[in-house]
Amino acid sequence: MSSKDHLVIFDTTLRDGEQSPGATMTKAEKLRIAKALEKLRVDVIEAGFAIASQGDFEAVKLIAETVRESTICSLARALDKDIDRAAEAIRPAERGRIHTFIATSPIHMQHKLMMTPDEVVEQAVRSVKRAKSHIDDVEFSCEDAGRSELDFLCRIIEAAIDAGATTINIPDTVGYAIPEQFADTVRTLLNRIPNADKAIFSVHCHNDLGLAVANSLAAVTSGARQVECTINGLGERAGNASLEELVMAVRTRQDLFDVETRIDARHIVPASRLVSTITGFPVQPNKAIVGANAFAHESGIHQDGVLKHRETYEIMRAQDVGWHTNSLVLGKHSGRNAFRTRLLELGIQFETETELNEAFTRFKALADLKHEIFDEDLQAIASDTRQKEADGRFALVCMQVNSETGVIPRAQVTLMMDGKEHKMEAEGSGPVDATFTAIESLVDSGCNLQLYSVNAITSGTDAQGEVTVRLERGGRIVNGLGADTDIIIASAKAYIQALNLITAGAHRQHPQGADV
Ligand code: KIV
Ligand code: ZN
Repeated sequence: MSSKDHLVIFDTTLRDGEQSPGATMTKAEKLRIAKALEKLRVDVIEAGFAIASQGDFEAVKLIAETVRESTICSLARALDKDIDRAAEAIRPAERGRIHTFIATSPIHMQHKLMMTPDEVVEQAVRSVKRAKSHIDDVEFSCEDAGRSELDFLCRIIEAAIDAGATTINIPDTVGYAIPEQFADTVRTLLNRIPNADKAIFSVHCHNDLGLAVANSLAAVTSGARQVECTINGLGERAGNASLEELVMAVRTRQDLFDVETRIDARHIVPASRLVSTITGFPVQPNKAIVGANAFAHESGIHQDGVLKHRETYEIMRAQDVGWHTNSLVLGKHSGRNAFRTRLLELGIQFETETELNEAFTRFKALADLKHEIFDEDLQAIASDTRQKEADGRFALVCMQVNSETGVIPRAQVTLMMDGKEHKMEAEGSGPVDATFTAIESLVDSGCNLQLYSVNAITSGTDAQGEVTVRLERGGRIVNGLGADTDIIIASAKAYIQALNLITAGAHRQHPQGADV
C-alpha cells in the first residue's frame, strides 16, 4: 500500500474544453472522448452543463448511461432549475456528481450577479442543499476565487461544507494567480476553515498567464487533492491546466509530491489525438508530453547522449505516455475483421453497419494510395465517415480544380443542397481560395472565415492532409474538419462541414455568461 494521498483527476474537456470557441462537439464525439477518459482512468468526468441545451443534456445522460469506471458530473449554476436538470442527466450513472457554482469575487458579485455577499452565501447554501437532496457527491465552486477576498471565501466555504458539499473547488477563473500566492491561498483556506477536513479541496486554473499547470501543482503542495484539467489544455480563452502535464509532473517528480494518481498514462497520446481530431485544434509540435517533438532529439549531442544512456536527456519514456504504440497498423491486404478490431481498440464503434461498410471502402481506397495505414488515418476515416453520414444541408458531390503556373486557378464544385445538385465555377488566388469561392457562390452563407489550417496526419508526402476551417456568423463559431490525401478536397470537405454545423446550430446557454 502506498503512503501517498490520492490526487483526484477531474477532467473537464467536455465542459470547459467545449467552451473554447469552435470546439463544439456532437453527442457521439463526446461519448468517444468520455470513453477515452474512462480508459485513461480519470476519476471524474465533467460531461457537460446539462441545462445549456437539449443536446448537452442528452450528451451528459448518454455518458452517464455508458461510462462505468469514472464518476460522471454535470455543471449547474446555483439555481434550482439547473441543479434539477443536472440531477436528471446524471441519474443513470454508476457514480454521479453535481457541481454547482456561484461567483464570489467583489467584481463578479457587484457587476455580474448584482447581489450582496450575504445573498450569495444564502444562495450557495440553498443550492448545495438542493444538490444534496439529489445525490451525495456535491461539488461547490467559488467562481473567480482567484480574485475573491480570503475572509469571504472562508465564510462561504464553511457554509457550503456545512450544507453538505463534499468537494470545494477554488477556481482561478481568469488565470490571474501566481504559483506562490495561489499555494498560499489554498494553504490559508485549509488552515482557517474549521470544517475543511470534511471536504476535498480542488483547484481549477485557467492559463491566461501560462501558469495553469504551475498554479495547480503549487496548490497540490499546499494540500489540494483534486485538480481540474483538460486534455491538451483545451478550454475557455487560453485554456485550462493540461491533464497530461499535471499527471506526468506528479509522476515524474515523486520526490516532491505526496500524491499519486490512478491515471493509466499509456493512453495519454491517443486521448490527445482524439480530442485534437474531434475539435480540430491541432497540438503544437513543442507541446509538453503530447506534441510531435516532445520526445524528438534534433541536436547531434543530444542524440548521441540518448543513444548511450537515455536518461542523459530524457526524464520520461515516450512509450509510457503512449507514443510509438501507434506504429504501422493495417495495410492494403488487411480485411474487414482486422479493420473493425483495430477501430474497436481505438474506441471507435459505428452505430450502423452502413457506416462501417462506408469506412471500410474508404480504408481500402486509402490503402491503394498509401501503403501504410496508421491509427491516425483510421481516426480521420472514422470522423470523415460520420460527418458524411450525419444529416447536413450540404454535401460534396464532386469537384475539379485547375492549378497551373501562370494561369489563374479555377475550381468547379458540385454540391448537393437540400437534396438537389448545384454546380458552380470560380476563380481564386489559389486552388483553395477558388474552391471556397465556388462553394460560397452556391451557398451564400454570410460567414466569416476565421481560420484555415492544414496538417499532415502522418509523415510522408502520401499522408492524408487534415484541414480545419473555422467559420463565424453572428457571434457563433464552428470548426469544420476534412481529411483526404488531396488537401484541396480535404479543404472543401472541411468548409462544407463547417457550413453544416453553422446552419444546424442550436442555441446554447453559456454557464458563466448568465446571471443567477
Ligand atoms: O473557470 C471557472 O470558474 C469555471 C467554474 C464554472 C468552475 O469553469
Ligand atoms: Zn473554467
